[in-house]
Amino acid sequence: MSELYATPPRHVGAADPDASHAGVTAVTTNSAEDAIARAAAVADTIARTAVEQADHAMRHWTDPTPGPVRIGSAQHLRMFSNMLLQTHNPYKPAVIEWPKLSPDALRRVTSLPIWDIAVQTEGRASIRVKTFAGTVTDPLLRDALDMNGGEEARHKVVLSKLVEAYGIALAPEPDYPPPDDPEWGWLVTGYSECIDSFFAFGLFAMAKRSGYFPTELVETFEPVIQEEGRHILFFVNWAAWYRCNLPWWRRPLFALKVARVWAFLVWERIGIARGIDADGAAQDANFTMNGSEALGDSQSPGAMIDLCLAENDRRMAGYDARLLRPETVPRLARLARRFLR
Ligand SMILES: [Fe+2]
Ligand SMILES: [Fe+2]
Repeated sequence: MSELYATPPRHVGAADPDASHAGVTAVTTNSAEDAIARAAAVADTIARTAVEQADHAMRHWTDPTPGPVRIGSAQHLRMFSNMLLQTHNPYKPAVIEWPKLSPDALRRVTSLPIWDIAVQTEGRASIRVKTFAGTVTDPLLRDALDMNGGEEARHKVVLSKLVEAYGIALAPEPDYPPPDDPEWGWLVTGYSECIDSFFAFGLFAMAKRSGYFPTELVETFEPVIQEEGRHILFFVNWAAWYRCNLPWWRRPLFALKVARVWAFLVWERIGIARGIDADGAAQDANFTMNGSEALGDSQSPGAMIDLCLAENDRRMAGYDARLLRPETVPRLARLARRFLR
């Protein structure tokens, strides 16, 4: 996506080298057209290389300063902030060329009951992260949070473009007011991404493997999923750093707040599973529960958890080993795995 990320799979604006070769045969006598075709092919190669580099850079990052890092230190703060800032992929949603889908694939995409929730989740995440960023005084951390909020806004644009491209009807969107308590909003977004991304990693891999979605569509979406992986890596390191830097008397209150956030998220997910969202509106989203069946692959719950765990490890593997990894959800999943076949 981007003039960067539009190639591969679907680059917009640069000539296809094969097509230009076809053109060359037809106009062998016209050297100007020949030169233009060659220039287009070179531009295409450069664009492809830039896309591949940006994609590699978003998945691999190590702080150049060697040695151990104390969690909660100024160096830790610098490290997780730089991780987010320096792995930003500059793709532009406006130039994504959505692949043409066969009638079958189109029906599968449009009938997934996730689009309303997905668009609204990104809208809420964006305002929550940006609002919290506004309360932060450290310039580097604030830049990282601003980037995080900007990426959530970009996810929403990507989804809106997808919905538009495939003619998916959405429910009217609600307003996204800034949260009264910016810290609460940031914690809710951070921990909910820790839950949702873990399962999204597995479901995405499954959709890819089963061929439920055409490869081009999967590839187009891939950076969005990795971006959520970066977000939760950033979030869990922020949470540990923040806790360490609170005065001792505020730590129990913070722990209580985090517990309330988890309770809220569990309640919210039970609501979604029952087909009722947090505002009491009906949703046809038993999706996370039955996601693997919906994606055309009837895996056992145990195999599904194995896949989520493996994908989680794979997506986190490229980042500096001194940063903390999201642990709570994988740990709960491993516990649940013992009782599932
Ligand atoms: Fe997002
Ligand atoms: Fe995110």
